[in-house]
Amino acid sequence: MSPTVEIHLPADHAARALAADVRSGLAASPKSLPPKWFYDARGSELFDAITRLPEYYPTRAEAEILRAHAADIAATTGAHTLVELGSGSSEKTRLLLTALRDAGSLRSIVALDVSESALREATAALSQEYPLAEVRGVVGDFTEHLALVPGEPPRMVAFLGSTIGNLLPDERAKFLGALRGTLLPGEWLLLGTDLVKDRDTLVRAYDDGAGVTADFNRNVLRVLNRELRADFDVEAFEHVAVWDAEQEWIEMRLRSVRAQRVEIAELGMTVDFAEGEELRTETSAKFRRDGITEELATAGFTVHRWWTDAENRFALSLSRAE
Ligand code: AVJ
Repeated sequence: MSPTVEIHLPADHAARALAADVRSGLAASPKSLPPKWFYDARGSELFDAITRLPEYYPTRAEAEILRAHAADIAATTGAHTLVELGSGSSEKTRLLLTALRDAGSLRSIVALDVSESALREATAALSQEYPLAEVRGVVGDFTEHLALVPGEPPRMVAFLGSTIGNLLPDERAKFLGALRGTLLPGEWLLLGTDLVKDRDTLVRAYDDGAGVTADFNRNVLRVLNRELRADFDVEAFEHVAVWDAEQEWIEMRLRSVRAQRVEIAELGMTVDFAEGEELRTETSAKFRRDGITEELATAGFTVHRWWTDAENRFALSLSRAE
């Protein structure tokens, strides 16, 4: 079957959202930008490179868990539909899909992603590899467009990579509640969460020796330069990764190395940076078993299985919608 890609967003949705985020984030104090704007083609390639860095353990740890438990996940859920929040292009998605196919339950695959090009590529590959499944791509933002998620129940929604860590606690509660609202009782959420650990390991994962994460972080400025005709001197910002032990999240920031003024032509906006001023570009929350179990319970999910990698760095939980 050939894949379908459904676009439920107006063509200018991304441009408007970017403009709104930049307008409010760069006028605020302290300045901040949401992490979703890292991921243009170059940013997605840089993120891919990050997942192969020796310091960035989450991707490998999560894949290790999936390799060990995909068959159990398939047997437990008997899911007919795998819904991936994300494009579905990763090796990890394939571990799940192959297990569901081998268990005989796989009927359809749904991928939800903001990037239409990523979805077209991923869904074409998926329908080749899983020819008996119906493959659908939905262009949308997982924080806004969950209601669009189709597919034959029982569905399993996979939200991997600890991407949930990019949401702040109140955003997480809203997101989990909305997700629960789209599912029927007895459907499933497979959630990847990076775990709280020592500061050094965490900071190294976000400040690698080769400088790939620094380049990824600065990429958001290139996106603004191109999309909004801004004139950021990308090299005049240095990469900063800090562990906030109280909030239990990593913050990535860009620190202005000198006082500078930036024009954002498309928005008619001028932004001043003081020397040393920091712009927050990402929070990446880390989790504890009790905390995320409680957050899931509040949203109406019961954790049925909890697995970690051999070094206890990352967790995968399988929860049932009640
Ligand atoms: C894809 C959001 C989970 O927070 O670890 C990697 C992105 N940022 N290195 C993460 C990221 C810096 C990543 N997530």
